[in-house]
Amino acid sequence: MARRKLILDVDTGTDDAVAIMLAALHPALDLVGCTTVNGNVEVQYCTDNTLRVLDHVGRKDIPVYEGLARPLVRPDFPIPRAVSDLAGQIHGRTLGVPASTRRKADVGAVEFLVETYRNATDEITLVPVAPLTNIATALTLYPKLVDRVPEIVIMGGGHEIGNVTPSAEFNIWGDPEAAAVVFAAKFRKMTLVPLDATHRALVSYGDCEKLRALGTPASGAAADFIGHRIHVHDEIQRMAIAGTTPVHDAVCVGYLVDPKIITTRRHHVAVETGGTLTVGRTVIDTHFRGGQEPQCDVAFDADAGRFIALLLETFKKRA
Ligand code: BDR
Ligand code: CA
Repeated sequence: MARRKLILDVDTGTDDAVAIMLAALHPALDLVGCTTVNGNVEVQYCTDNTLRVLDHVGRKDIPVYEGLARPLVRPDFPIPRAVSDLAGQIHGRTLGVPASTRRKADVGAVEFLVETYRNATDEITLVPVAPLTNIATALTLYPKLVDRVPEIVIMGGGHEIGNVTPSAEFNIWGDPEAAAVVFAAKFRKMTLVPLDATHRALVSYGDCEKLRALGTPASGAAADFIGHRIHVHDEIQRMAIAGTTPVHDAVCVGYLVDPKIITTRRHHVAVETGGTLTVGRTVIDTHFRGGQEPQCDVAFDADAGRFIALLLETFKKRA
């Protein structure tokens, strides 16, 4: 069977790193390229981290395209960060895998996205797991992107849960105007994996031990990144089960190969850009009160066992 092609838009980041390794190493997936964007760290560090992770797992062949360094209309958002304590501690600036021996691509992320989708003869799933600045800009330059992308799978938002403010999740809060453009854009198929689902796919220290025991570069790095995340979450943003962490972005990649990892319901989703208390909130019309056609399959639950089994199965192999 043909492998499923995808492009990952990342702000690497500890959980982005696990998502990248899963996409780069799973035999059913064909990671065409990674695009980077301002988010967890400044974009040049996201690019450097993405190159490091791909090289570390033996995938120097996958190109990395650097994207936008600032949100669409908020030049100081999220830097300097109100969230620096959490994002800074969870991700650090440079991930603990060796420096890459290669360079980012000469072409920028937005140009790569537009030209790749304009010329694509195969279906390429788009998976943004970071602020949506690159995607909104590509849409503005090339509105037909909505017809060329077979499915967009977004990590972001939260219905019951926020993680930057009581209302907002980091990726949407990091560039709410960009997110509003993307959710309004009428993609052929849109799947949203918010905190409500990622906080159900919690990974424990015990799972990290199982990963480390596999003895591969990917399993060791995943154990390090996830173990670090657990430590920080326990200190400053404890999960429902102590000693666990969400690995948000990797859940989106997991869904591509095992759709049962998430459970979705179809709703209309819009993004708040004006509210002083609620900026960056994903307004998910769970009770169909807004009269707008549902356009998004929203994950409200996730299967931790299936997700962890997929990580273990994938990371036991070398590239
Ligand atoms: C999201 O924000 C980032 O910090 C993570 O990488 C993830 O994409 C979770 O809110
Ligand atoms: Ca991310």
